[in-house]
Amino acid sequence: MVDAPRDGHDARVSEPSPDPTVFVLFGATGDLAKRLVLPAFFRLAQEGLLPPDWRLIGSGRRQKSDDEFRDDVHAALQEFGPKPEEGPWDEFSSRLAFASDGFSPDDPGRLLDRVGEAEQALGADVRRVFYLGVPPDGFASLTRAIGDHGLADRARVVYEKPFGTSLEGFRELDKCVHEVLDESQVFRIDHFLGKEATQQLRAARFANGLFSSSWDRHHVAAVQIDVPETLDVDDRAEFYDATGAILDMLVTHLFQVAAEVAMEPPASLGADDIAEARAAAVRAFRTLDPDEVVVGQYEGYREIEDVADDSRTETFVAARLWIDSERWRGVPFLLRTGKRMAMSRQTVHLVFRKPENGPYTELPERANVLTFDLSGNGALSLAMTLERPGAVAALDRATTDLPLETVADGDPLPPYVRLVHDVLIGDRTLFTRPDGLEDVWTVSAPVLDAHPEPEVYAPGSWGPAAAERLADPVGWVLGES
Ligand SMILES: NC(=O)c1ccc[n+]([C@@H]2O[C@H](COP(=O)([O-])OP(=O)(O)OC[C@H]3O[C@@H](n4cnc5c(N)ncnc54)[C@H](OP(=O)(O)O)[C@@H]3O)[C@@H](O)[C@H]2O)c1
Repeated sequence: MVDAPRDGHDARVSEPSPDPTVFVLFGATGDLAKRLVLPAFFRLAQEGLLPPDWRLIGSGRRQKSDDEFRDDVHAALQEFGPKPEEGPWDEFSSRLAFASDGFSPDDPGRLLDRVGEAEQALGADVRRVFYLGVPPDGFASLTRAIGDHGLADRARVVYEKPFGTSLEGFRELDKCVHEVLDESQVFRIDHFLGKEATQQLRAARFANGLFSSSWDRHHVAAVQIDVPETLDVDDRAEFYDATGAILDMLVTHLFQVAAEVAMEPPASLGADDIAEARAAAVRAFRTLDPDEVVVGQYEGYREIEDVADDSRTETFVAARLWIDSERWRGVPFLLRTGKRMAMSRQTVHLVFRKPENGPYTELPERANVLTFDLSGNGALSLAMTLERPGAVAALDRATTDLPLETVADGDPLPPYVRLVHDVLIGDRTLFTRPDGLEDVWTVSAPVLDAHPEPEVYAPGSWGPAAAERLADPVGWVLGES
């Protein structure tokens, strides 16, 4: 086993023994809560990773008793796991409560009382965590309410993505947040940063001489961050139609992963240095050129209930991003995502350049590719060109796979489990910073402003043909165009 150097401190254990915590979940009746946040909390209970004493209060605008909320959580765990019977359900459920009637600057609903009761039960120095699992238009009012009702002290506040929907919206929200909270209290989630394989981007590169010496424009012909989905949007149509692929995926998840790939070596593995390296990478992104962005809409999208007949929302986007740094000058970062595509994958590919000299200069494109599979527990794979064993001399491409769950003593955690735990221990390494986000909105403004008419593509395809051309001459690794 190799003990990773931590520059004098372990970034993972910012607060080894977290204080007793009241965890307030806004949006507790929503899709995100039931599919991801509540299951993450239960998994942490299973793993013994919750603070020694805690309460979870769901907050919502509807009327709901504590018992009804417990039943909802039970049903969510049955559907999305871990199953209640696989963990300490009775003990867990006794710590759940629900505060009805919403929470706003003018009206605290039932929440203020419920937090007071929980804090009394937990004793002195209780940590407050507010998780804003609500649509972005609810962020400002809930933040103001936290401040106005005297709850900002000892608080950490978690914001779901997207943090703003434009440069102007971002600045307004950022101002409002900093009127109530210090930056150290703010945790902006982008769950792609919490994926196990995303973190391997750093380890694979900085801990291995083979990759650290070749992670640049001299060796890499193209970087591809490719997240196609076969799923449609039927069950989230209203949300999706108001959002689209650019906001939902491109300028959030795909940009953050691009920054992870592109970052310069951080000064240390401490949270501040990693966040600084990521923000500096985004600062070097060149403003997107609308001519290098292709948007599409799958055939049949406008027939979905809750989608306007003339909707121009894009269900597909592919973009060629350039990074103006000495390391990456001239290397296209190709970003692609969409609904109803030919396959579901979440991948980062580094396509290495073909050798310029020697006996093997006539190789096909994509003969040597390092791939990070971000889905599930994560995996790395390396495609290489090798001599085919046997009597007949021929070159062939072979791939070696490394699923992360096979790494000795590994215990991969789903991203929401990892990120909720990081909030509880106060580790901000995997959360985004306001300067990095402001740059994201600046870089994407021309495309968001242009709002181009999407090209129609066939369900089950790889999107509009123009997106294929965007990847010339290397071509996309997925779909092997
Ligand atoms: N679902 C996902 O897979 C997913 C993944 C990543 C990120 N996200 C992000 O998570 C957030 C929530 O998404 P969702 O899919 O859970 O949405 P959803 O299913 O529509 O649920 C929204 C929840 O927020 C509450 N809510 C809505 N507007 C509110 C407001 N103005 N003030 C306070 N509460 C409000 C609703 O509660 P009431 O019962 O009070 O109406 C409901 O519980 C969004 O920012 C989304 O981008 C979602």
